[in-house]
Amino acid sequence: MSGAGKRFGVLEVFRDINLEVGSREVLAIIGPSGCGKTTLLRCIDGLIPLTEGHIQIEGELIAAPREGVAMVFQHFGLLPWKTVFHNVAYGLKLAGASRAEVEETVPRFINLVGLSGFEHYYPYQISGGMQQRCGLARALAVGPRVLLMDEPFGAVDAQTREILQFELLRIWEARPTTMVFVTHAIDEAILMGDRVMVLKGRPSGVHEIVTVDLPRPRSRATLAHPRFAELREHVWGTLMDDARRAEFEVNR
Ligand SMILES: Nc1ncnc2c1ncn2[C@@H]1O[C@H](COP(=O)(O)OP(=O)(O)O)[C@@H](O)[C@H]1O
Ligand SMILES: [Mg+2]
Repeated sequence: MSGAGKRFGVLEVFRDINLEVGSREVLAIIGPSGCGKTTLLRCIDGLIPLTEGHIQIEGELIAAPREGVAMVFQHFGLLPWKTVFHNVAYGLKLAGASRAEVEETVPRFINLVGLSGFEHYYPYQISGGMQQRCGLARALAVGPRVLLMDEPFGAVDAQTREILQFELLRIWEARPTTMVFVTHAIDEAILMGDRVMVLKGRPSGVHEIVTVDLPRPRSRATLAHPRFAELREHVWGTLMDDARRAEFEVNR
């Protein structure tokens, strides 16, 4: 990604983002609400165009959604009139998979995310956590080389969130893919990322890129690592500077 900028009319969301994500690297992106995280992911996915600069994936310029890149949405993005099975099958069918491939692949991914037995349920019949498991299975089923995650656990309760974080780590260990993981939770960014990109400012830009030198595989033990606490304090300080200043201005 080089010189990436995006405007919506007069609103300049972000500017001059330069970044390279390595193969099988997990880049976590963190920044306050409204700083343009979702917009940036949608640009990477080719759903909307940048207004400046460009993004390449595997050496090719992104102008439209691309095979090998899958997105997991904050609000699950499931089709309410389709069952778990058919939601997971949806991406595969779009990618042109045969009926036999769909029949073989879908149960494997439903099983991987722990949803076996719920194949014939509709989204409204299952919990938020289960809906996001389904969203994850749908993204993984197409065998993506790049996974884009937009606050995937932002809409589930805290305990479910923790469970899903560790499950995602387990799934990633079994089959590492390049991942861009957007979150507004500092702990989650550090737990998931090989690097954490901190976005801030208006328009936002890259304030800092923090290397997360914590060993993999990551697990619950990672949270107790002294280095984890150091990194969290560091990122927290970076983000809170702004929040404090904003509060000060409001109170003046
Ligand atoms: N399609 C759009 N048209 C106009 N403004 C938009 C559009 N999408 C997002 N925005 C604006 O861009 C800014 C960044 O939004 P978003 O990327 O959703 O932030 P984040 O995901 O970091 O919370 C917000 O001010 C939002 O209102
Ligand atoms: Mg967002």
